[in-house]
Amino acid sequence: MCGIVGYIGNKEKKEVMLSGLRELEYRGYDSAGISVLSSDVLSTFKTTGKLINLENKCKDFKSSGFGVAIGHTRWATHGKATEINAHPHFGETSSVVHNGIIENFLEIKTKLESEGKIFLSQTDTEVIIHLFEENLNICSNYLEAFKNTINSLIGSYAILLITKSAPDKIFYAKNGSPLLVGASKDEIYFASSSTPLIGLIDRVCYLEDGDIGVMDIDSFNDLTNIQPMSGEKMSSQKDGYRYFMEKEIYEQHKILQDTIRGRILDNNVNLELPDDFVNGVNRILICACGTSYNAGLSAKYLFEREAKIKTDVVIASEFRYAEPIMEKDSLFIVISQSGETADTLEALKLANKNNLKTLAICNVDNSSIVREAKYSLLTRAGIEKGVASTKAFSSQVMLLWILGIYISQRKNLISKTQIKAQIASIKSSLEAVKVNSYIHDKLKKLSKRYLHGHGFFFIGRDIFYPLALEGALKLKEISYLHAEGYPGGEMKHGPIALADSELFCVSLMPKHLLYDKIKNNTQELSARDATICIVAQEYNDVADDIVLIDKFDSYMEEFFAMMIVLQLLALEIAIRLGNDVDMPRNLAKSVTVE
Ligand code: G6P
Repeated sequence: MCGIVGYIGNKEKKEVMLSGLRELEYRGYDSAGISVLSSDVLSTFKTTGKLINLENKCKDFKSSGFGVAIGHTRWATHGKATEINAHPHFGETSSVVHNGIIENFLEIKTKLESEGKIFLSQTDTEVIIHLFEENLNICSNYLEAFKNTINSLIGSYAILLITKSAPDKIFYAKNGSPLLVGASKDEIYFASSSTPLIGLIDRVCYLEDGDIGVMDIDSFNDLTNIQPMSGEKMSSQKDGYRYFMEKEIYEQHKILQDTIRGRILDNNVNLELPDDFVNGVNRILICACGTSYNAGLSAKYLFEREAKIKTDVVIASEFRYAEPIMEKDSLFIVISQSGETADTLEALKLANKNNLKTLAICNVDNSSIVREAKYSLLTRAGIEKGVASTKAFSSQVMLLWILGIYISQRKNLISKTQIKAQIASIKSSLEAVKVNSYIHDKLKKLSKRYLHGHGFFFIGRDIFYPLALEGALKLKEISYLHAEGYPGGEMKHGPIALADSELFCVSLMPKHLLYDKIKNNTQELSARDATICIVAQEYNDVADDIVLIDKFDSYMEEFFAMMIVLQLLALEIAIRLGNDVDMPRNLAKSVTVE
């Protein structure tokens, strides 16, 4: 989703902006722009489409010496993805970038228009710049003008503003959308996430909601909560893979080793939680969006069957406004790869307000969700660049599985033998996520037959139902084909009406969980001529096509092995269709608006 960068210093500001925006590219965007203020000249460039268009547009532009700059990648909310609607938005002497949504923009716009102000764009953001310039005329100084402007806004925002009235400064404000400021010797950087800052700064401050201020080269140390920041720029190479998504699918074997490191012992599990963590917890409520929701739903089956803990799972956007009843003995778990998803963050705030014990399962340390939750556990999947989540999903399921065992171990809900068996199953699940080249080749071949039907059903039962949902979501996200995940037993209650030879049905048939039941459901579809592709350990006669996974002794290994098949199937179909797998249309990696 929208990304922000800002810079104060002596480097070539255009290059700093473009390279910062490149680091945010994977999050998804549809237009981009930069403003550079140097030697009293304010220059703005914006384009639609990819960053290469912006690079071409400003290729002859240079700004030497000291100056300030702001940059933005936009994911359209108010107004189409046009050049005029792209950020920065500028007035006569100032320029602004903004993430979030200004809810009262129409009211402000109507007032300013009645005073003769001309608006160029359809965005909510443009009101900020005109309001600021109006305030500059009436306020005694520029900071007061900026504060008055921000105080007139209702909504969520991370804002950076530069102005010729204060040419060595960047004005900033944060409420609800993430914003960081970092420093190295003689340089200040801003960004909406840490990715563009890694390797460039040695100190960082994660701004808090309500922070409004102005920064120049000397004022970083006036901030509170400055933390050291280290780290090399993460390798953003594809290492010979065609897409980041492909690399991330292959990485899962290594990632899961990191996820379980120090958490799995011989006879028990251990987590970075205080000893009294489970005290007073009798049930679990999980809240998340997208792939993280599918991981949460998988955890419900694990928590209830294996760990004997009652669990409910809710989509965060549905939870927020439903006036949910929150029992005090619930552990409230939010799951988020990015740690910035607006709906999940707001659901978490609601749970905190209701004094629930809250726990974040997250991939990004210091993200808004990690900072908001009372407790957090990191999935350790590393930066995920493909918009379609893969390694984040497997690491979430793995960590949740361990968490379930941890809670039931602490509460004596399951026996030592049961714990040992699960630990053994966790260890062999690490083998199940190794990509088998035979299976990948098979899916490459198979993919050419699965391009032109009228839709896909992915079916599974029990924990293979959320996996079916995830398989359908992967395919939808990157191939743009219509795909739905269903519990196998539900087909006959409506969806089966769609069955004919042009309907592709991917059936997850684990040997170790409800095999005969899902076989029956698959047979019912086959009898109505649907084209059936089964994923299983052994051949059976229901299938038109079959993807054989390796032999495993329990259903969770089958779960992870089938997950790999579904991820690769989506990848290969999308590649055949010629789609941009890593940056699919309309999607954003981190959704910071509700
Ligand atoms: C977006 C992404 C999905 C992701 C969802 C939740 O929609 O495109 O891949 O699953 O947000 O994101 P989170 O970062 O909270 O897991």
